[in-house]
Amino acid sequence: MTNEETKQWAEQVFEKIDEKLQVEVKRLGDKIPYVPDEKTGLYQEDKGETDPVWWTNGFWAGMLWQMYHATENEVYKKAAESNEETLDKAFDIYTGLHHDVGFMWLHTAVANYRLTGNERSKARGLHAAHLLAGRYNPRGKFIRSWNRDRAGWVIIDSMLNIPLLYWAEDTLGDPRFGYVAQDHADKVMQDIVRADGSVNHIGVFDPTNGDLLETPAGQGYESGSSWSRGQAWAIYGFALSYLHTGKKEYLEVAKKVSHYFISEVAKTNWVPLVDFRAPKEPVMWDTSAGMCAACGFLEIAKHVPDYEKELYTDAAVNILQATFEKHGIKELEKDGLIDHATGSYHDERWTEVPIIYSDYYFVEAILRLLDKDFLIW
Ligand code: GLY
Repeated sequence: MTNEETKQWAEQVFEKIDEKLQVEVKRLGDKIPYVPDEKTGLYQEDKGETDPVWWTNGFWAGMLWQMYHATENEVYKKAAESNEETLDKAFDIYTGLHHDVGFMWLHTAVANYRLTGNERSKARGLHAAHLLAGRYNPRGKFIRSWNRDRAGWVIIDSMLNIPLLYWAEDTLGDPRFGYVAQDHADKVMQDIVRADGSVNHIGVFDPTNGDLLETPAGQGYESGSSWSRGQAWAIYGFALSYLHTGKKEYLEVAKKVSHYFISEVAKTNWVPLVDFRAPKEPVMWDTSAGMCAACGFLEIAKHVPDYEKELYTDAAVNILQATFEKHGIKELEKDGLIDHATGSYHDERWTEVPIIYSDYYFVEAILRLLDKDFLIW
């Protein structure tokens, strides 16, 4: 496909997304969606009611802000504002909050502030950034993930949350936030990314000195395997850390993990398996890994010389086209844009279903192809 053909394709997809999301916003009202009901194919559960601290509660608003930015349709803005206000309940609950506060407030409050300058949103974003920075372990030099008795646990997903700290650094002119984010990224780069370009999901560190103790299985097949969404978190996460710091090692590691991801996903016609190192059977897909990786590839393409760009843009376009063709949900009567996302290899609850974060990255990637996106991260 030429660049012109890719743009035409993306423009057609964008029109379909716009048509479908307008229907979804109307149908959904003020609910915060996660996964549509299996029987009806419609969003029924309202995560704002059932689980205000749930880690995905910002993605719907993030998608709406991206669409508002691209279309200026106030319907999107209103629904995104409502999602942001609902999340104030999560600040009140507090004890259930975790390292995923980046996902929750970058896509709601920070996005709002970036687009409208709303001061209340800025305060919410800064509140969340302080919560994230408060999880920093100054001996181990990492931000702890999750809660309970896991003081030394770090998961690769955290790389998509630390952009909240880069934003706080810029907004307050306070380099502390950047130091915390960079210490964390350095630790992940050193101990969680593997030499062959694949990535562990979890690193367990001694919380008193930061020594790596073990790398247990997480949402992938087993310890030592290669959970595809984890690989995607690394690709996009390190690309974003490079964007915010200019530190070349971050770009190099984002490229290294990308090359590994591309060589794996090309084997399955550009839709990723849940885990690149799981047994051949059962075959299980995770479209969300491809959608997130595609955003990462498009970010990397902005920072490499012209002769390298094609590798990343072609991979992104191949993944987007293959996924939309095979797993795009085109019917207006059903909720969700992209099917066959999977939460976790061993958790049957959300296997090969539409999940809100897959939709978010899909929308962002399509808008990136059209230069209609804005930076939420
Ligand atoms: N951050 C959790 C996940 O990727 O499923």
